[in-house]
Amino acid sequence: METTIRFIDLFCGIGGFRYAIEDVAKKMGIKSECVLSSDIDIECQKAYEANFNEIPKGDIHAIDVSTIPEHDILLAGFPCQPFSIIGQRKGFEDARGTLFFEIARIIQAKRPQAFVLENVKLLAGHNGGKTLSRILEVLRGLEYSVDKKIFNALDFGLPQKRERIFIIGFKKPCDFEWPKGGKTMKPLGLLLEKSVPKEYYASDYIKTKRFATHSPTKEPTIWHENKAGHISVYPYSCALRAGASYNYLLVNGERRLTAREMLRLQGFPDSFKIICNYSQTRKQAGNSLPIPVAEAVLLNVFKSCGWMKNSKPDFVYSRKQSFDKQLLLKEKGKRYGKKTKAKNSRKI
Ligand SMILES: C[S@@+](CC[C@H](N)C(=O)[O-])C[C@H]1O[C@@H](n2cnc3c(N)ncnc32)[C@H](O)[C@@H]1O
Repeated sequence: METTIRFIDLFCGIGGFRYAIEDVAKKMGIKSECVLSSDIDIECQKAYEANFNEIPKGDIHAIDVSTIPEHDILLAGFPCQPFSIIGQRKGFEDARGTLFFEIARIIQAKRPQAFVLENVKLLAGHNGGKTLSRILEVLRGLEYSVDKKIFNALDFGLPQKRERIFIIGFKKPCDFEWPKGGKTMKPLGLLLEKSVPKEYYASDYIKTKRFATHSPTKEPTIWHENKAGHISVYPYSCALRAGASYNYLLVNGERRLTAREMLRLQGFPDSFKIICNYSQTRKQAGNSLPIPVAEAVLLNVFKSCGWMKNSKPDFVYSRKQSFDKQLLLKEKGKRYGKKTKAKNSRKI
């Protein structure tokens, strides 16, 4: 009989985790089936339905575990607001912080073979590490082998510096190896749209302010303004954020990213149908997860669980290199790294 991996997609947003697991299953030569998706946000539900032909269930608190079908793996990119740098930093005292306990409730009742959770990097250091320790303690208390690791999307081919923590758990102890990354970064120029309507361009006032301190470069760059108003220029994007100011990231210091560009920066395929307005899609993309990182983690989870038909050759990872150093835009020489490389051919 053909193997089918059944999964549930909690806090599904617009389906970042779903793209990742469906791709991994395909690579492994097996089928996958989503048996439950859930997200409280109506706009996310609409986008998910347009793309996956299924309306996610709403508030997770209202989901009775007896109605959740049996599944092999649980996926959850649970909300980061309680732990994020832009949130109130209240953690578990914040009502939203208790959403993690909803995941634990489902794991306890359904006991899938494995789970993969994703959150912001800041979770690791929140409250002196106590928040994360508590999460791991709860999961281990459910008799799962649990581990966690922080990854940067830049290390998995996306031109976006996005650091995220992944937490994995297995019901049966097994050998698991975290992916190593070290993938070639897709040049930013390949992700940018060729023709962008003028409403995406910043006002003359903003542009003049930006160009007073930095000059445009030949190769496309993204100009990032931090909270203190300091501008940094990189050949990649800083982390997309759901609620940031519209001028927080400006392509070449002059225009906002389009919805399609933001989705590409998270690894969404162009077949993803954009059906919500700009501000909703911007929020959805900012809340989503870097799909190639989730894919790399899931690939190894599948291997550990023995969920495969044919093993495919891309299990061999290239050597990890110091991408941050190489990619820093050199303001003076306008070059990246030590050597000048042919356009679009640099390896990291
Ligand atoms: C960080 S986002 C996850 C995005 C998703 N991983 C993706 O790739 O698009 C967290 C999601 O949790 C949803 N959420 C927040 N509270 C919820 C609740 N009580 N029940 C269900 N979903 C909730 C939010 O609407 C948001 O879409």
